[in-house]
Amino acid sequence: MTTRPRTPAPGTPAPGKLALPELAEMKRRGDRIVMITAYDAPSGRIADDAGVDLVLVGDSAAMVVLGHDSTVPATVEEMIMLTRAVNRGARRPLVIADLPFGSYQVSDEQAIETAIRFVKEAAADAVKLEGAGPMLSRVRALTSAGIPVMGHIGLTPQTATMLGGFKAQGRNASKAVRLYEDALALEAAGCFAIVLEAVPSPVASRIAEALTVPAIGIGAGAGCDGQVLVWHDLLGLYEGTPPRFVKQYAELAPAIRAAVERYASEVRDGAFPEPKHTYSMSDEELALFDAALAEARAT
Ligand code: KIV
Repeated sequence: MTTRPRTPAPGTPAPGKLALPELAEMKRRGDRIVMITAYDAPSGRIADDAGVDLVLVGDSAAMVVLGHDSTVPATVEEMIMLTRAVNRGARRPLVIADLPFGSYQVSDEQAIETAIRFVKEAAADAVKLEGAGPMLSRVRALTSAGIPVMGHIGLTPQTATMLGGFKAQGRNASKAVRLYEDALALEAAGCFAIVLEAVPSPVASRIAEALTVPAIGIGAGAGCDGQVLVWHDLLGLYEGTPPRFVKQYAELAPAIRAAVERYASEVRDGAFPEPKHTYSMSDEELALFDAALAEARAT
């Protein structure tokens, strides 16, 4: 059995934790960065054991874990609880907490207060926020407070309505230029990495080339410095039609359903539990127990 070190004090990198500056080094060396979402301790641990570099506690949790139709309803309390759980499982990967909608848009002060909660209460290594423009001052404020920030542009699910729905972004020259400028502005504001979601591959490649910090793609092609996928999408746990950028590496939902169906049927027909699933008692103690019951019944 592996022993895991205790969770360190907030803000203190755990022993063996990937160092944040290593990400830019990986980009420089051309080593692709692997990022995945996770929402609980077992998935954090599996991601760590599988050698993943970055674990994002995404507000996609609102959809894939909490059953909402969008990421918007995710709350700070929910995200803190999930981040804390992931952190108990993931030791080497940097654990990045998504700031939920409404927890950072109001002001720089609000963003700092929210992010500090993630660092202190959930031991998050970094936070992620969506957008550029007015969000640049949030990035500056957070990094000045010592909190590493990952940017996220392109399809930004928290503001998908403003973007006309869940669709690819930067598909004409002027919108592509805007994305390019936003990425450079986020880097200049202090982001240590930037997620590019649902962006045409040639646009993402040019952005990745222009940045010194890593561009992490999701639906942005192979020219990015790393890739991210949502845990439930990758494992086939979230049923329904996945976005075209998802590659399913397993189809776990049918396997899980079949296992639960078998369990239900074995409980109903008495095949489970078998003697090996329960505990024995010596004949002598059983006889004493029966005698005690008989005596109790007689009085
Ligand atoms: O919330 C999330 O899972 C994300 C990823 C898709 C990047 O933001």
